[in-house]
Amino acid sequence: MRILITGASGLLGLNLALEIARRHTVFGIVNQHMLKTDAFRVIQADLLAPGVVERLLDEVQPEWVIHCAALANLEACEADPFQAQQLNTDLPRILASHVARSGARLLHVSTDAVFDGLRGNYSEEDIPTPASVYSRTKLAGERAVAEADPSAIIARVVFYGWSLDGRRSLAEFFFNHLSQGHTVMGFTDVFFCPLLVNDLVDILISMLKMQLSGLFHVVSSECLSKYAFGIRLAERFNLDGHLIKPISVNQAGLKATRSLNLTLRSDKLARVLGQPLPSISTGLDRFYTLYQQGYPQKLLSMSLQE
Ligand SMILES: NC(=O)c1ccc[n+]([C@@H]2O[C@H](COP(=O)([O-])OP(=O)(O)OC[C@H]3O[C@@H](n4cnc5c(N)ncnc54)[C@H](OP(=O)(O)O)[C@@H]3O)[C@@H](O)[C@H]2O)c1
Repeated sequence: MRILITGASGLLGLNLALEIARRHTVFGIVNQHMLKTDAFRVIQADLLAPGVVERLLDEVQPEWVIHCAALANLEACEADPFQAQQLNTDLPRILASHVARSGARLLHVSTDAVFDGLRGNYSEEDIPTPASVYSRTKLAGERAVAEADPSAIIARVVFYGWSLDGRRSLAEFFFNHLSQGHTVMGFTDVFFCPLLVNDLVDILISMLKMQLSGLFHVVSSECLSKYAFGIRLAERFNLDGHLIKPISVNQAGLKATRSLNLTLRSDKLARVLGQPLPSISTGLDRFYTLYQQGYPQKLLSMSLQE
């Protein structure tokens, strides 16, 4: 199959492209971060430039499009709400309408952060009330995709893993600081259900193979605080967990509002897959194994930036 993946230099897109390229022909779209790799075809394109989406779909003729590109940094979204809307809402709308017309299938990546986090344990039936520019623009993106292409898969995700520059995920943040003996803060009052990106990739591939449609929460079956996640990671890597100082997110001076309880239910997808989604220990074990196998260096070696 011919598969077009946007955001192929990002944390999710790169891991996804490398895995899918083992069996399919992958075209990975990057913008500012060009990649050195023969594993898949890398195309540099600004997806916001007029006509680029149509041109790429015409040239590549993909059977599947997996849309990972976004403005995924909450603070950057607060600083530039217009760019957030262009990337997180307008681009998915344009992409979904062109993909639907071309007859290809679309998997659109959304976020757990569409919820305000006041309650937690959210299912796909719960009505989101987003609390930040990022959340509002991502929710509007989901809705635009569902309207333009009702057969699309919309996956609300949250994940960690090894990335191109080694600095994109919370797990890398804890690992980098703890392994250098630095003290870090861990939020005790922000709860989430993160999947290892490689487990997320495997699940997204299963969802594509099963030709699913509609909205799914694709998150770990286990949820915990960001502080507890840091401690679990420290234990797995034999690092000093005492370096993680427990604090409230309100003490951190962040501009974008953080949703506190982003625990999501994944039982809809678990029923379809016939098994629960991976636990935190399963993910951290694989994250550690990838580290031992030199996977972080493999990704770093694909970067053209210092
Ligand atoms: N990270 C998380 O835990 C998390 C949680 C929930 C949901 N998500 C969602 O998961 C998806 C992937 O997130 P991520 O963390 O992998 O993102 P990321 O690492 O920040 O990567 C973003 C990607 O978007 C690309 N991009 C940005 N502007 C572009 C443009 N104008 N034209 C073409 N490409 C452009 C970037 O390309 P260049 O870098 O080459 O410019 C990069 O490849 C997003 O939809 C995000 O909202 C992420």
